[in-house]
Amino acid sequence: MWSRIEDAAKHCLCTFGYHELRLPIIESTALFERGVGDGTDIVEKEMFNIDSRDGEPLSLRPEGTASCVRAALQHGLAFNRVARLWYQGPMFRYERPQKGRYRQFEQIGTEAFGISKPALDAELIDINHQLFTSLALDGHITLRINTIGSLPERRAYTEALQKHLDSNRDTLDADSLRRLQTNPLRILDSKHAETRKVIARAPKMHSFLSDDSKHHFDQVLECLQALSIGFELDPYLVRGLDYYTHTVFEFETEALGAQGTVSAGGRYDGLVETLGGRPTPAAGFAIGLDRLVLLYQAVHTETEEVAACSNLVYCVAADEASLRHLMPIANQLRRDLAHTTVVVDTLGGKLATQMRRADREGARWAIIVGESERAEGVLTLKPMREVGEQARLTYDALVLRLLEDHG
Ligand code: HAM
Repeated sequence: MWSRIEDAAKHCLCTFGYHELRLPIIESTALFERGVGDGTDIVEKEMFNIDSRDGEPLSLRPEGTASCVRAALQHGLAFNRVARLWYQGPMFRYERPQKGRYRQFEQIGTEAFGISKPALDAELIDINHQLFTSLALDGHITLRINTIGSLPERRAYTEALQKHLDSNRDTLDADSLRRLQTNPLRILDSKHAETRKVIARAPKMHSFLSDDSKHHFDQVLECLQALSIGFELDPYLVRGLDYYTHTVFEFETEALGAQGTVSAGGRYDGLVETLGGRPTPAAGFAIGLDRLVLLYQAVHTETEEVAACSNLVYCVAADEASLRHLMPIANQLRRDLAHTTVVVDTLGGKLATQMRRADREGARWAIIVGESERAEGVLTLKPMREVGEQARLTYDALVLRLLEDHG
């Protein structure tokens, strides 16, 4: 299931013209402090830090965006040109583990550099939408979207918000009080009932946006409408990492309980400059693969699962000579049938035992070869899932029969 979902994601990214980048798992701690932000939960309390021999503080990467920007700068991938990149691999955060939240988890992320137009923001959302649709999950995931404006606009808003929250500090919960100094925007995420009342009366980001920022966001939404992608506007969506500007979005499901965010991202036009490059517009997202797999499991029943992965042909030989006869035929089948898995039973033994193994493997068809098949130049094709009649066929007729069935 993991492979199928990964393959679907990679295929989707490939069809949108994104190229794979392989990033290291360990990076300098300073990269994440500067990139993700000092006041974020990730940097404050969730990084796995390593003492290196030469004293340079290193960390297991908690996310991929900062690493991707670092690599793009180091290797000139985003200099004066457009780059559409993706990466996959484990990320590490020292969080309290629960269903859907792990200390080592897997992301597939994308980052696109050099495009300031709102169509890119919509393209990134569209990639998610196409992938979820291809996995028949689109009915189970909703898109929430917001804009947090340019960096100066966000700063002005953060100050106003901080002032409002500070004048209501008696009502705030302990976590929000702590965040008041370090990361006031994150208080908008608070689930605490009293804090939520204070937030409801707080100044709104929208009134701090310039016409350009509003226009950018409106165009993103127009693109989404043109792509027939439904969304919910969420004025309180801010994301937990510091680098975002303008569009931010999250794909959420109700099927996984508390850890329902399956994919998240947005624009981060200031990060390349923060990390030492020239001002470069950029945007991206990361899918939490563990959660996507959990959702896939929750939504698709076991029977669908068997049906989806059962293009399996299991080859059984009655004796050693038949096995040697069958192995090159299995290779020819692998070449001739693109969507088929061909397993040869190399353990051997009684035919009945081999057929039981075929069944246990979930085979759709078995091919049986013994002395009489070899003598006549045919193969016995036996349906394992009530998908047709048993028949003795020439190789070509057998391939046609399987092509009819599997495509
Ligand atoms: P993030 O929201 O921190 O964003 O993580 C993205 C996704 O990774 C989450 O929506 C979730 O599905 C998954 N995830 C995060 N933490 C855990 C965990 N402890 N266990 C399981 N899954 C988890 C980022 O990481 C940004 N770098 C995304 C991005 C790319 N923004 C722009 N470009």
